[in-house]
Amino acid sequence: MSQNEVLCRCLNVTRQEVEQAIDVFAASTEQEVGRLTEAGTGCMCCRRCIRDLIREKQQQSAVLRTA
Ligand code: FES
Repeated sequence: MSQNEVLCRCLNVTRQEVEQAIDVFAASTEQEVGRLTEAGTGCMCCRRCIRDLIREKQQQSAVLRTA
């Protein structure tokens, strides 16, 4: 998935915008990402992708902290 790929089709939110919500604003739940970007606040079909992205980012952070 590229950075500019739309992750949330209902609200036209890109993967990059969701990643910024996680990385810059420390969003750690789908609800927080939704408040910051509106992603996942429509049909909710994309919430699993948002949750997976949050988990992926948290795992990357954990690896960096232990390195
Ligand atoms: S695709 Fe994200 S809320 Fe519908």
